[in-house]
Amino acid sequence: MFDLRQFAAIAPDFYQKLHWHEQLESTNDEAHRLAEDGVEHATIVLAEHQTKGRGRRGAEWMSGSGDGLLFSVVLRPQLEQRYYGRIALAAGLGIALVLIDEFSIPARVKWPNDILISSKKCCGILVEASNDCVVLGVGLNVLNAPRGDEFIAINDVASGPVSREKILALVLAAIMGEVDRCAENFALQLNRIEAISYLSGKKITFLSGEQQHQGSVVGIGEDGSLLVRTNGRLRQFAQASDIQL
Ligand code: BTN
Repeated sequence: MFDLRQFAAIAPDFYQKLHWHEQLESTNDEAHRLAEDGVEHATIVLAEHQTKGRGRRGAEWMSGSGDGLLFSVVLRPQLEQRYYGRIALAAGLGIALVLIDEFSIPARVKWPNDILISSKKCCGILVEASNDCVVLGVGLNVLNAPRGDEFIAINDVASGPVSREKILALVLAAIMGEVDRCAENFALQLNRIEAISYLSGKKITFLSGEQQHQGSVVGIGEDGSLLVRTNGRLRQFAQASDIQL
């Protein structure tokens, strides 16, 4: 079970804003509900287990009870709505840098919302906007990953002991810092994202709407969209799914 006393000792400021639940349908749903009640920026909802955890495009997010960190943060960002695409990337950068800097794990950010280790998914990020706020949901595989070759947990590759309490404290600090920065100087942040971007320079096929596209990834735009050269033409995609190399 997540040790709330330990977390309070290492991250007292975040603990003050933490709503912990043993079980929820989805931390994102609970965060939306709290946001409607008017909770402050950086309110956090953490659950040990979700019965209806969701990912992008209606996908299910699976995680065994206590295996990972399942949390959502209510954000009231100082950012125009057209730049909300930056938020998942900024959060992804923060989380990936914690894995790189604290655990020497070569994590990569995969546009738009995944963090990969050895090409396997260790973390998914779900950003949902409603009225004047944004809910940032994070599913991070810490102790065990869900079954399936495509997933990995930090514990599978870390060389030392892994503490969910410590990781939550570190990733929350990193996320909040990077999300603030994405409103101020996204160009600088983009350079840091590009340096650990999984897709940079790669040839990909993907779906945008119903249509399949093929092209080379050139970079990320100032609104967080993916820049792809397809048939000699540079195009911007705010949404893409089923990205394959
Ligand atoms: C994705 O990879 O498609 C995003 C997955 C996001 C999962 C997290 S788990 C905590 C939060 N609550 C949810 O219902 N979803 C997000």
